[in-house]
Amino acid sequence: MNNKKVRITETILRDAHQSLMATRMSTDDMLPIVETLDQAGYYALEMWGGATYDSAIRYLNEDPWERLRKIRKRTKNTKLQMLLRGQNLIGYRHYADDIVDKFIEKAVENGIDVFRIFDALNDTRNMQASLDAVKKHGGHAQLTICYTTSDVHTIEYFTDLAKELIEMGADSICLKDMAGILTPAVARKIIPALKEVINVPLDVHTHATAGVASMTYFESVEAGADIIDTALSPLGGGTSQPPTESLVLTLEELGIDTQINMDKVQEAVDYFKKIRDKYLESGDLDPVMMFTDPRALIYQVPGGMLSNLYSQLQGAGASDRYQEVLEEVPNVREDLGFPPLVTPMSQMVGTQAVFNVLTGERYKMVPNEIKDYLRGQYGKTPAPVDEEFRQSIIGDDEVITDRPADHLEPEFETLREELGDLARTDEDVLTYALFPEVGKQYLENKYNPVQEEDSDEVIKIRIHR
Ligand code: CO
Repeated sequence: MNNKKVRITETILRDAHQSLMATRMSTDDMLPIVETLDQAGYYALEMWGGATYDSAIRYLNEDPWERLRKIRKRTKNTKLQMLLRGQNLIGYRHYADDIVDKFIEKAVENGIDVFRIFDALNDTRNMQASLDAVKKHGGHAQLTICYTTSDVHTIEYFTDLAKELIEMGADSICLKDMAGILTPAVARKIIPALKEVINVPLDVHTHATAGVASMTYFESVEAGADIIDTALSPLGGGTSQPPTESLVLTLEELGIDTQINMDKVQEAVDYFKKIRDKYLESGDLDPVMMFTDPRALIYQVPGGMLSNLYSQLQGAGASDRYQEVLEEVPNVREDLGFPPLVTPMSQMVGTQAVFNVLTGERYKMVPNEIKDYLRGQYGKTPAPVDEEFRQSIIGDDEVITDRPADHLEPEFETLREELGDLARTDEDVLTYALFPEVGKQYLENKYNPVQEEDSDEVIKIRIHR
């Protein structure tokens, strides 16, 4: 008899819509179904962090903290999980340790249980401050291995990393395959090797982009994975996670217990079909993102990055160069010492690839983030960068080798003062700290909305000019 079991983490409230439709699902579209999801038997609901915060204040005019509180209020049985980019939190640069601590304190207070903490370079020094804060404030620290392939990313590399994460105090480990390139054959080798060196649950996270994810999950469960991440079928497949129902039915039929209540799952599926249709109609959900694209196995481009690259090129009126840009991505990645393609590296490598293709000359234009990366400000690169290449981009600029955040002064109180009247809560200060321009704009709209008369005034002034 098969007495295997596995738990399921549902991603429809975070990764699924981030990967398929640029994180545009609104809180109003989530709330009516949260109680059903809470009764479905999931290990956790991933519903916060990643790009959700940025998207809420930038596009949805929503308070991300409000979303967290509202979902928490309706979730009594299931853990709430967020994705946290280590020292980058949910932004795109390194923040000072006091911001990291305050952010995590507030996230725990508002309802997050599980913090999936990763660093884009797998530089463990960049996870230390978040780990310390999660432990201090009483959360579950799931430390992450970003999976990627290159000459340096061997099984030994990953098991060494796992050992280090365990020594740091991980409550669980996530093998995070943001690009959907983990194949069943590799899973069969890597998962027993990881299980050998860790004594906490192992969560495997992948994307259906290349069409191998369900097979990989199956192999992962067979090989001892304790948790897998799936998305309900209306927003499953494509650049998102493989569909929850298909996995659960397959595993259960084989006698592998998932603790999932299929009636509740079906209820949620019916609900999200309507939500999906709404976003298809509004154009936020481009059906292209739901296609299977085995090229991901070659280009290693994660779901979110594929959709971003496509819309970046569309915005520049150059969507016909999509293929060329995809081919340039691995070249840029090699030049930079094989960083895993995950935020913010995926955006940085993607933008550089777009520049290299659209300007017609490689590294003619280089974003400041890439220069900072070559100055060591993001941490240690997985493979060494060629010194001649580095010099050609940053000249004789200083290159740091210690923990990047050691160069940052505490900033929370300074930012609170800077924000003045708009700093009504610590959460407001964090919004400003993480997204200075967009965050301030959001807070201004929230607390000092432009009055009807004023907006008429503005229109008149514009017309008279
Ligand atoms: Co993901």
